[in-house]
Amino acid sequence: MFDDALSVRDFRQLSEFIYNYCGIKMPETKRSMLEGRLRKRLRATGYPTFSEYCDYLFRHGGMETEAVFLIDVVTTNKTDFFREPNHFDFMTNVALPALADKGYQRVRAWSSACSTGAEPYTMAMVMADAVERRVISDYHILATDLSTDVLKKAHSGIYSRELIDPVPQEMVRKYVMMPKDKTRSDIRITPRLRSKVGFARLNLMNPSYNVGDPYQIIFCRNVLIYFDKKTQAHVLTQLCKCLTPGGYLLIGHSESVTGINLPIKQVANTVFMKQ
Ligand SMILES: C[S@@+](CC[C@H](N)C(=O)[O-])C[C@H]1O[C@@H](n2cnc3c(N)ncnc32)[C@H](O)[C@@H]1O
Repeated sequence: MFDDALSVRDFRQLSEFIYNYCGIKMPETKRSMLEGRLRKRLRATGYPTFSEYCDYLFRHGGMETEAVFLIDVVTTNKTDFFREPNHFDFMTNVALPALADKGYQRVRAWSSACSTGAEPYTMAMVMADAVERRVISDYHILATDLSTDVLKKAHSGIYSRELIDPVPQEMVRKYVMMPKDKTRSDIRITPRLRSKVGFARLNLMNPSYNVGDPYQIIFCRNVLIYFDKKTQAHVLTQLCKCLTPGGYLLIGHSESVTGINLPIKQVANTVFMKQ
């Protein structure tokens, strides 16, 4: 029943929509990947062929409800606790003490492409420890992503045990709950830590957005790589508007801001301070 292929025409229409909607490039080489991943949506919506599914999306208003699923299908969500650990060392040793010196005792941080939550919960562990050491007095983290699938998982704070391997033992003891039933392999972030992280859906491609008062720390890691330069410039310009002067922007180790005019200066590898 589902043996047809995604035509070049339908693929082009889909990839154009995806690029305009969320900035993710879908070159021709990804056609079979998209086809494979979309079969699940065909089954879920009951359309027997890709051409009928695309007809529904583009000519009968289907995109209004399908866009959210389409995005879940095309986003890459790889993440880890303490991924790129020198960023967390920088927070502990440089950013949080410097912010406290500038009068930011209560630090607001934003994980702007948070995926399944390992990044904001790692930030929360580091910040909770800074509160314990009285470097700062309190903190709050906003964690956003475009994909509703990953946000659901992040909100639950439940992970398989091996995912917390990179978390230092002392932090596991304080911030992770182990199952009483030893045969179970899932762990959960403590309610106290979870209460410090608020999750919301946000598309970094939006022309503008309201995320409340400015942030002192913004993570935008391992998402810029999916965007072209024009989209990167838009996303980073918007993020800089949400950053306090003297606040920090952290990007992924394989990402760069070269050639983009931003009100920031580099202070460490892939770490920038707003001027
Ligand atoms: C590879 S993960 C990176 C997760 C985390 N920042 C890290 O470095 O481990 C990329 C995330 O970016 C999200 N994403 C892609 N396009 C986006 C957009 N336009 N707005 C917000 N999030 C987006 C994806 O859903 C995915 O969860």
